[in-house]
Amino acid sequence: MKALVYHGPGKIGWEEKPRPPLQESSDAIVRITTAAICGTDLHILKGDVPAVTDGRILGHEAVGVVEEVGAGVLDFKKGDRVLVSCITSCAKCDYCRKAMYSHCRRGGWILGNTIDGVQAEYARIPHAETSLYALPAGADDDAFVMLSDILPTGFECGVLNGRVQPGDCVVIVGAGPIGLSALLTARLYSPALLILIDRDENRLTAAKSLGATHTINDTDGRAVEQVLALTGGMGADAVIEAVGLPATFELCQKLVAPGGRIANIGVHGKSATLHLETLWSRTITLTTRLVDTATTPMLLKAVLSGRIDPRKLISHRFALEDAMKAYDAFSNAAEEKALKVILKAR
Ligand SMILES: NC(=O)c1ccc[n+]([C@@H]2O[C@H](COP(=O)([O-])OP(=O)(O)OC[C@H]3O[C@@H](n4cnc5c(N)ncnc54)[C@H](O)[C@@H]3O)[C@@H](O)[C@H]2O)c1
Ligand SMILES: [Zn+2]
Ligand SMILES: [Zn+2]
Repeated sequence: MKALVYHGPGKIGWEEKPRPPLQESSDAIVRITTAAICGTDLHILKGDVPAVTDGRILGHEAVGVVEEVGAGVLDFKKGDRVLVSCITSCAKCDYCRKAMYSHCRRGGWILGNTIDGVQAEYARIPHAETSLYALPAGADDDAFVMLSDILPTGFECGVLNGRVQPGDCVVIVGAGPIGLSALLTARLYSPALLILIDRDENRLTAAKSLGATHTINDTDGRAVEQVLALTGGMGADAVIEAVGLPATFELCQKLVAPGGRIANIGVHGKSATLHLETLWSRTITLTTRLVDTATTPMLLKAVLSGRIDPRKLISHRFALEDAMKAYDAFSNAAEEKALKVILKAR
């Protein structure tokens, strides 16, 4: 089979690899029909994720068809259409029993990380019964592949941790695929103000079309002033950090209202300052989380019913064998006006 293979920082190729066999009785082999490229894959390419070693097939976002199952997999059979979760869960360990699947002792984020991933013609999915989700016949791959990672991430780490309520002022810093996923799922709670902050005008335009009430380009550094003006000087009830930089984390601290919540989603590579000298008296809550995909069953229903249409996040579609071109487009997101880039098997 062919697959997108990592060979160290800056080096990937679309190459011949052996088709993965079943290894454990709880495994399934999935024929990939649609896969997506994630910002995390670009972090891997930069060498930011040392766990990923030479020869690893990348990718943790996909929809496909079950090709083969191990003897212990009773809930899926050959021919079933499935969503692959970016988080593999054994459902049995102490963390899984607390629905903290991202910390699963036998899984977590392993696909395209410590084991071969899904940007390939076939992939081996461990703990298949609790890491795959059945898709109804006729379900559109493009919509559901957004449920592997970005929709649950925006929802769980941003909207749920930020305790978004009807009538709230919600500010999302970062209008990439994750910030926009937080936007789509925050709308389920009818916030009064839904303000997106970014420096990329193309992404702010996308945010507006997806239902942001206001967008702010912070290139001039005036976002705080503008949010205070929109909220009668109070600030935001929920501030969602969807960038992952010290500067944007500090911005969130200036935007939060007394009694408000800061929900961090961004992956931070550097330490950032927590301004307790201003926040100690303001009754704020700060949360962090790695996506657990515990809400995937609920989000599946929301997408099936048409309540959320995540296809609007897709900017580019490539054939699976053109994965290298797709990486090029996604690596130049600003010039290419790229949001979510997906790969389709022929
Ligand atoms: N916690 C989790 O489980 C989890 C899961 C997936 C991704 N993430 C993280 O979420 C973050 C967002 O992911 P993404 O794929 O949307 O990334 P992205 O890079 O596509 O989007 C980030 C956005 O932030 C904007 N930005 C950059 N600097 C800015 C600044 N100073 N002010 C305002 N906007 C600025 C960029 O223009 C871009 O639109 C990343 O850090 C990613 O690693 C976290
Ligand atoms: Zn991802
Ligand atoms: Zn587990």
